[in-house]
Amino acid sequence: MAKKYLIETFGCQMNDLDSEKIAGSFHQEGMEATNDASLADIIILNTCSVREKAVQKVYARLGEIKRHKANRPDLVVGVVGCMAQLERSAILKRAPFVNVVAGPQKGAVMGDLVNRSVRSRAPLVDMRTDEDPAPLETEHILRQSPWRASVTISEGCNRCCAYCVVPITRGKERARESAGIFGEIQGLVERGYIEIMLLGQTVNSYVDPTDARMNFARLLNGVAAIPGVRRIRFTSPHPADFSDELLGVMETCPQVCNHIHLPVQSGSTGILKAMRRDYTRESYLRVVEKIRGLQRPIAISTDIIVGFPGETDADFQDTLSLLDAVQYESAFSFKYSPRPYTSALNLPDDVGDEEKGKRLSMLQDRQRQIQFRRNAAYLDGIVEVLVESRARSRVSLSGRTSNNKIVNFDGPENLMGKLVQVEITGYGPNSLKGTWIRKL
Ligand code: SAH
Ligand code: SF4
Ligand code: F3S
Repeated sequence: MAKKYLIETFGCQMNDLDSEKIAGSFHQEGMEATNDASLADIIILNTCSVREKAVQKVYARLGEIKRHKANRPDLVVGVVGCMAQLERSAILKRAPFVNVVAGPQKGAVMGDLVNRSVRSRAPLVDMRTDEDPAPLETEHILRQSPWRASVTISEGCNRCCAYCVVPITRGKERARESAGIFGEIQGLVERGYIEIMLLGQTVNSYVDPTDARMNFARLLNGVAAIPGVRRIRFTSPHPADFSDELLGVMETCPQVCNHIHLPVQSGSTGILKAMRRDYTRESYLRVVEKIRGLQRPIAISTDIIVGFPGETDADFQDTLSLLDAVQYESAFSFKYSPRPYTSALNLPDDVGDEEKGKRLSMLQDRQRQIQFRRNAAYLDGIVEVLVESRARSRVSLSGRTSNNKIVNFDGPENLMGKLVQVEITGYGPNSLKGTWIRKL
């Protein structure tokens, strides 16, 4: 009987895609997916280490998995991804029953690693190194969605933001050859995919490593030229690399969605400097102004960290006033979490946890009000939605607009994966509600 595997994914969209690469490699080995841990022969935790909480979650989950393993000693347990890269053998000390520990970018070889660990009956550790990086082309990817696909354009990060472990866990930036990217997207379109998400840690610093030396703006233009690609998204661009050429492509290519995720992290130039973000409040706002100057309205979302070392109340007020100035469509916000091997670890974590909590809820309240006001403006309007799933709430379907708004509405099941028009009849701070009008 085919072996059953379960992959649990923590962290960002890169990890979601890595899990799809792991699933692809398992399928090549003849294994099958299951959602039920008690039926799985293999459980893989694809982990994140961006904040301490993410790491704690994995150890808590390992505590539960230990019980499964006690009942079924043949169960293979793998801890892979960013946290595995950072913690390495510490995982085996705390959870000696783990069979495979592997860094990120090991998706393509995961089936082989699992089989080898079973044969050797000993834990197998396989870390990513900059000297011996995994190939950027992945032959087998088993995607979750039949109409939306993420595509790697680069791996790793060459920046050195003071708080961030990603350059350590994922290593130096390596760009994929544009021909491989175009080829993969062409193949996806032929299989019915209509929305493509281009992924890189600093996606807009992309430069084709071949003689073409194609930059991100030209790559985006090239993807838009592939017939059948209806929507293109990309994440995350770094504000310091946001070029006029890229804005020009957004202006001229309607396939590129009306949404830019532009992580700001702080509204205070002093804190941005301490974070080593390579831009100021003012230069960030200049990029926002240029985006706002485009012909079509573009939604902007962001990431924010509160309580970075040395953040005074005045610095925090600068972040609040930045929210007012930009009017983000949405924002992910986090309490600063000191991380191993990062340069900010040398700075005192001097904003207490209670104060970080207060700032976080103040910021989230302010942002909720902004979103409430912004979403009110959609009322009675008509939006175009790619139907992605059944909604959790009363209404039956859920999808996203080009500018990344979640829209819940009633409609027949056969609209899944289709672009449809929806009239907006209600709203909350995080989503819109509507009535289906017609298929596009
Ligand atoms: N490459 C992306 C960010 C990846 S990490 C970019 O540069 O935009 C995703 C988000 O996690 C970051 O934008 C940041 O807001 C947050 N983050 C990263 N390290 C953190 C830390 N040590 N504590 C709290 N939040 C952190
Ligand atoms: Fe981390 Fe900064 Fe690189 Fe983003 S740009 S992954 S925040 S180091
Ligand atoms: Fe992503 Fe977390 Fe790694 S945010 S890059 S999975 S540390």
